[in-house]
Amino acid sequence: MGEMIPVVPVAALEEGGMIGTRVNGVDVLVCQVEGQYYALSDLCSHARQALSKGRLAGHLVRCPLHGARFDVRSGACMSPPASQPVKTFPVVVEGGKVCISVSADDRPPPPRFSPF
Ligand code: FES
Repeated sequence: MGEMIPVVPVAALEEGGMIGTRVNGVDVLVCQVEGQYYALSDLCSHARQALSKGRLAGHLVRCPLHGARFDVRSGACMSPPASQPVKTFPVVVEGGKVCISVSADDRPPPPRFSPF
């Protein structure tokens, strides 16, 4: 695990809330579900829509563009039209801040379109 970078105060992220941010040039979604914090790529693996502009229901974030869903715990793709997972990042809470480990190498690969 690399350096842990503070990205958002704990107080700014309520239960069921999510925030899109950029860390080391990587778009990251940070959210809180059932008291746990998660961080994952904020670019849908289908066509790079910002997942943080979608809806979070339980552990699943729904892409606002075509409705693919991803599990925030693993980044696993749970429904089409996306077929690839999104990357997740290590999270710790330190000094009242949600901190994550992201490097410039964590930029996602080019999108892979799949038929609807
Ligand atoms: S861009 Fe996310 S489902 Fe198409």
